[in-house]
Amino acid sequence: MRGVSNIVVLTGAGISAESGVPTFRGPGGLWEGHRLEDVCTPEALADDPVLVHRFYDERRAALESVAPNAAHVALARLDRDWPGELLIITQNVDDLHERAGARRMLHMHGELKSSLCAACGDRRALAGMLPPGAVCDVCSAAALRPDIVFFGEMPHDMERIEAAVANCDLFVSIGTSGAVYPAAGFVRTARYYGARTLELNLDPTAGSIFFDETRQGAAGVLVPQWVEEMLA
Ligand code: APR
Repeated sequence: MRGVSNIVVLTGAGISAESGVPTFRGPGGLWEGHRLEDVCTPEALADDPVLVHRFYDERRAALESVAPNAAHVALARLDRDWPGELLIITQNVDDLHERAGARRMLHMHGELKSSLCAACGDRRALAGMLPPGAVCDVCSAAALRPDIVFFGEMPHDMERIEAAVANCDLFVSIGTSGAVYPAAGFVRTARYYGARTLELNLDPTAGSIFFDETRQGAAGVLVPQWVEEMLA
């Protein structure tokens, strides 16, 4: 990987699978046990706020019993030791990257441990449960909701992400099925602007054909190997 100084890493549910956080698609995935229309759309939140809030309260509580795995730890090491630019963009709403020590990162699909005020847009750290009708500290509206980007909503930080993807020399996708846009399109943007592209995933994905190189295996094995190569 000579000549690389600016890296963008995109992560998805597969990087947290070995920590025991369920992925979305495939056997045992979250979308097998729930209809995403019932818990992950603005309409669902309006129709049944109790159900939607409870779904995310339960997932937030479940974070207490999981821990970062070797892949999160390796990316945090890359963040600490990589002398060039780096941005880790995660689609995950768990907090395992930051618990491993990653700092140069953002959550494009929101965070379980954050609330969002539907009235003023304030996002802030959240511990414990979030009942419907909770009041915003900033604007006093009874409008706090989980800070989760629902289907049909704009992901967070898109301007910064698009600039980073267009400017990187190496784009690496880890543990994501490439089924959800806009994240699924980042590889093509990165390639268009001349970046090298690498996919690390357990299975072939819908996006595999767009990568210069695809390595198949568990993130807990492949990510530490790749980080070792980058820092050698
Ligand atoms: N190591 C590497 N990859 C893995 C592992 C593992 N141990 N386990 C599973 N995978 C791969 C699967 O093969 C699959 O390709 O991770 C991918 C997970 O795909 P999804 O479940 O679709 O998760 P993700 O790509 O993050 O989903 C994107 O969809 O509904 C949503 O908003 C949600 O952010 C999420 C988005």
